[in-house]
Amino acid sequence: MSAAHNAELNPREFAAIAAIMQSDARIALSEAKVTLVQSRLARRLRQHGLASFAEYVRLVESDAEERGKMVVALTTNHTHFFREPHHFDHLRETLIPLLQEKAARRQPIRIWSAGCSSGEEVYTIVMCLLGPDRTAASWLRNADIRLLATDISPPVVESVRRAWYPDNAVQAIPEAYRNAWMQPSDGGYVMADAARAMVTARVLNLFEPWPLKAQYDAIFCRNVMIYFNDDAKEELEQRFVDQLAPEAYLYIGHSERMIGPASQQMRSCGHTIYQKGESR
Ligand SMILES: C[S@@+](CC[C@H](N)C(=O)[O-])C[C@H]1O[C@@H](n2cnc3c(N)ncnc32)[C@H](O)[C@@H]1O
Repeated sequence: MSAAHNAELNPREFAAIAAIMQSDARIALSEAKVTLVQSRLARRLRQHGLASFAEYVRLVESDAEERGKMVVALTTNHTHFFREPHHFDHLRETLIPLLQEKAARRQPIRIWSAGCSSGEEVYTIVMCLLGPDRTAASWLRNADIRLLATDISPPVVESVRRAWYPDNAVQAIPEAYRNAWMQPSDGGYVMADAARAMVTARVLNLFEPWPLKAQYDAIFCRNVMIYFNDDAKEELEQRFVDQLAPEAYLYIGHSERMIGPASQQMRSCGHTIYQKGESR
């Protein structure tokens, strides 16, 4: 067993790491996360040949590149296709008919998966838009439609671009969608070109300025805000509301809720689904 594997993280070192996570990504690490932090960073210590967290903390405090890698190592990227399926029922039943009207009026359609992880969320949205068979997608043929997928972690953004998923990841996709929009590749499945062409994937820290000009028709930010404290949630939710078009939708994770002034500008229309506009 390597020295890095045995390295113990003391409270002072943990506090230094937690302070960096808070300032760089607004991720709040409670003391209950000590073991998790220790095990996730053991590999970083090994890569640098370091035997103690004291040395590692000194490194991240002086090396911006390693500091970024530490932030990435401490993000949680768990995701899957058709996660929280009631959001996709709402998308199909309520939002897509509105988007079809917009497309018929030749208006642009913009959807954002914010904190997209490896892309299962954005490609689930894409498959819902395309429909369960190839003929259903005809309304999209001349539409000005773009989906943006962003995450703070460069490796997961690269996975969105690659759009390849192992066999066990695609099991959650209804067969009709899988047959229509995925092809077997390298022992797994790759998204069809028609699906990939709709998505732009970018590295973006949600607490930095957003290079977005458009007003969005829907923003999915699910299971991301659970890692932030209330100040950060409130700030981010306000920015999401400001980025949405009138009557547009915000989808958040199952254990998340809207707080602060932004919650007054949105009306609830289903579990963790909000529409821009004051309560009727
Ligand atoms: C648990 S995943 C959620 C993935 C997907 N939205 C879902 O619900 O399945 C959380 C993602 O948020 C990203 N994240 C955390 N803090 C972030 C920040 N400050 N800016 C951008 N992305 C962040 C993580 O890198 C991670 O990929």
